[in-house]
Amino acid sequence: MRCSKGAPLEVNCDHRLLGAGAKATSGRWSQGGPRGTERYRVNKRFALVAVGAALALGLSACGGGGAGSPAAGETSGGTAAPADVTVGVAMPTQTSQRWIDDGNNVKAGLEKLGYKVDLQYANDDIPTQASQLTTMINNGDKVLIIASIDGTALSSQLADAAAAGIKVISYDRLIRGSANVDFYVSFDNFKVGVQQGTSLLTGLGVLNADGSENASAAGPFNVELFAGSLDDNNAKFFYDGAMSVLKPYIDKGTIKIPSGQTDINQIATQQWKTDVAQRRMETLLTSSDANITLNGVLAPADIISRGVITALTNAGYGSGGKAFPIVTGQDADIDNVKLINDGKQYSTIFKDTRKLADEAIKVTGDYLSGKEPEANNTKDYDNGNKVVPSYLLESTVVTKDNVKSVLVDSGYYTQAQVDKGQK
Ligand code: BGC
Repeated sequence: MRCSKGAPLEVNCDHRLLGAGAKATSGRWSQGGPRGTERYRVNKRFALVAVGAALALGLSACGGGGAGSPAAGETSGGTAAPADVTVGVAMPTQTSQRWIDDGNNVKAGLEKLGYKVDLQYANDDIPTQASQLTTMINNGDKVLIIASIDGTALSSQLADAAAAGIKVISYDRLIRGSANVDFYVSFDNFKVGVQQGTSLLTGLGVLNADGSENASAAGPFNVELFAGSLDDNNAKFFYDGAMSVLKPYIDKGTIKIPSGQTDINQIATQQWKTDVAQRRMETLLTSSDANITLNGVLAPADIISRGVITALTNAGYGSGGKAFPIVTGQDADIDNVKLINDGKQYSTIFKDTRKLADEAIKVTGDYLSGKEPEANNTKDYDNGNKVVPSYLLESTVVTKDNVKSVLVDSGYYTQAQVDKGQK
């Protein structure tokens, strides 16, 4: 229910949120364990926090301040002062530049609006991320922005968040199996996969730059396929997108898969780990016929391409007249931009994390001022429990030819960073 500015709380203003907090209170007290025990104390504290959070968010929901422009210092009868609002930001890992940039961009943007930010990285460890979220909820954070490690592992934390009236924004990766996900900000992940598959075909010469078929591309081309981590909802979207363009060429024999491994379960890379990808690539190279020369590798992310490229280099590709296979990627990580310029990686998919952060900040501002954020997709992202309203951004294929125009001219990297391969 929309609330008008200054509407009395008890009349029509966000009973939903207050009710949720109150219900959570009784719900948790009843399971809280005997009075005097540690569990009772923890749950009592949670219950108080839950009511406080529900009240604060309820008040802010009535404030009517513009999204992204909270009125600093306004407290009575309106929006909570931004300085009194903490937003929890849970990121998966710092092993890839993109997540570091995501975290920094979201934090800086929210702080610019006056909010406090609790930014946490979970080192790709699921229990660590779950406990970081519990702490954020217990601390009374008003909105959670979560890039999950395992999209199915957070249901109980999200139930606690919902009970406390905390809005949850699923960031880049869709959180699955829970009704308590309010919004999803990401890129068009299927299209990212299409771009990866298409750039592999272009690199091999099967397609021309304009997307038309190159009739003189002889083939067959030997290609191995990698997918991302199965606990990340994105991995399936990338795989489906890539296979939508590669499968016809596999079926007619233009592309051969020496290992025969095409099923996502065979080619997945647990937790997107570089060393896991490197080991699989080494195994593939040593177990295939020694006379086979590999022409391409579908790698769904730069973090995986790096492992693949190390294995290929160690096996002698790129020297002694043995051409480097066409290797794809995603994220435009600075190390990989260097690998592209050095001729070891053919392409990456640039997803502008500045824009994603901006979108997450806008949605956060909307929630904190009682507005419903604007979605541009309300049908494709079913998390198994509900279709989560989403805002999807566009991505760009980057090869050696457009590193400068896409990454440098837009200010994403400086030319010096690109040259060094380091930020
Ligand atoms: C993201 C990719 C990233 C991958 C590994 C995916 O969920 O969408 O951008 O490369 O995780 O970190």
